[in-house]
Amino acid sequence: MGAKQISLDNTTKNPWINIPAEEYEKHMFDAGQLQLLNFTLKHYLNLYHPKNIIVLGATTGNGFENIKHKTDSITAIDINNDYLTELKNRFANLTQLSIICGDIQGLQLNNLSSDFIYAALIFEYVDLNKTIGNIKNWLKIGGRLVTVLQLPNKNIAAVSPTRFKSLEQLGKIMKLVDITYFEEVMRENNFKKQEAETITLPSSKQFYVVVHSK
Ligand SMILES: C[S@@+](CC[C@H](N)C(=O)[O-])C[C@H]1O[C@@H](n2cnc3c(N)ncnc32)[C@H](O)[C@@H]1O
Repeated sequence: MGAKQISLDNTTKNPWINIPAEEYEKHMFDAGQLQLLNFTLKHYLNLYHPKNIIVLGATTGNGFENIKHKTDSITAIDINNDYLTELKNRFANLTQLSIICGDIQGLQLNNLSSDFIYAALIFEYVDLNKTIGNIKNWLKIGGRLVTVLQLPNKNIAAVSPTRFKSLEQLGKIMKLVDITYFEEVMRENNFKKQEAETITLPSSKQFYVVVHSK
């Protein structure tokens, strides 16, 4: 059985729509970030063995090959339908997979109920307050949200210099999320912080990896 695919709203204005999957992946690989996000997802899947998984900004399914335990549902959400089509083709073996194309800031998904949400380098591209207020409804009480945020570094551009021109347009919409503000929004939405660490890549780019429970 193949993955279910739903497209819910008009997402055509977001610059992410114009970035070819191949260029995105090569850029993220060159920056060492694809590997970091893959490893982080694998780590928490192995730790929690979640039954109902949601991945926000899932792109082409980075790390989905690490879903090896028995699950009841896997939901990949992204604003770029081409990425999701690629994801669906790559992971046709995941029979519980659903694909949803939409903007996580306003998507209404009333019957989505998960115990694990992975949000890696996605809150940099949305209104945080609005998005957390929306996605918290997709998590069961006791469910976990694992977030990866890029930290500021005055010596490095937020969007790594790249040979791919298409990626440059992200500079216009990407906003690093202040950690103090992030934790404040999480508290206001009744999330409890479980653990957090800072990871530094060889490029000296740093990332905040944090787990909250609802
Ligand atoms: C940096 S990538 C995320 C990396 C990915 N989570 C991983 O682990 O490799 C950001 C992704 O978020 C998607 N995105 C950006 N804004 C979005 C929005 N408002 N709603 C849904 N997806 C969005 C982009 O299309 C892109 O695929």
